[in-house]
Amino acid sequence: MRVTESSYVFANSQHLRELERLQKIEEVFDPASRRRILATGLTAGWRCLEVGAGAGSIMRWIADIVGENGSVVAVDINTEFLTDLQPSNVEVIKEDIRYLQLEKHSFDLIHARFVLIHISDFRVALSQMLSLLKPGGWIVLEEPDFSAARAIVGNPEALKSVHRVNQAIVQMFANKGLDYALGVKLPAICQRLKLQNLSVEHDTPLSNGGFGMATVMKMSAIQLAEKYIATGQATDDDIEQYCQFADDPTTWAIYHGTVGVVAAS
Ligand SMILES: C[S@@+](CC[C@H](N)C(=O)[O-])C[C@H]1O[C@@H](n2cnc3c(N)ncnc32)[C@H](O)[C@@H]1O
Repeated sequence: MRVTESSYVFANSQHLRELERLQKIEEVFDPASRRRILATGLTAGWRCLEVGAGAGSIMRWIADIVGENGSVVAVDINTEFLTDLQPSNVEVIKEDIRYLQLEKHSFDLIHARFVLIHISDFRVALSQMLSLLKPGGWIVLEEPDFSAARAIVGNPEALKSVHRVNQAIVQMFANKGLDYALGVKLPAICQRLKLQNLSVEHDTPLSNGGFGMATVMKMSAIQLAEKYIATGQATDDDIEQYCQFADDPTTWAIYHGTVGVVAAS
């Protein structure tokens, strides 16, 4: 892999902790991703690209559907969670999507979830993906919208802390030249790129503590605590309160929105 500058905020995470976080993301978000991917007509024989494959659940699920006459290429800057023996129709490539060298116009489907938000020149990554898509091939993009984040029910002090941590998350992305609300911009970006058959969903689940998204965001907060504090928007105590809030089943919040875009080239 060529050595490139990475803006990925989880780049220096501890292995097991990051694996657990990625697996929790899969548990929470795979059902909606599978539904969106199936809407493209995914079937046996397709050649697919999974961008930023993480811990690999979507890659393996697609491999199962496309079967032995199809194939999946999984690309990630970090393939340490993809080292297990993979199905024979899967190829794992350690590379930055912006520099991936593969045959142009060779994929029926390209999927990326929570990847573009981590790339400051995401337009380069997107145009690279589109150049790899066959004419009429499908792209499924799923990116967060942190502008939707808000704490709704909890004790007043905790609500203030959660608000400050949300501000810190926004600031951390902004400081790295990343767009914390990239998700909501994607539909218009895809339109300008003349993608066809665009369908758009904006999920903003209202979540209580102790489950799903609350747990994912608590795991992220533990890993990124120093980065949140460095923004000057939240303190150590705010992060502790945020984690307690995210563990408490009587609290309610929107942790972030997710925009899913399905389109054809
Ligand atoms: C938040 S994780 C999401 C993982 C997986 N897509 C999921 O949703 O379960 C982001 C993933 O994108 C990868 N990534 C970040 N920047 C990348 C880049 N420029 N090229 C390829 N992969 C990248 C990270 O290593 C990580 O595995």
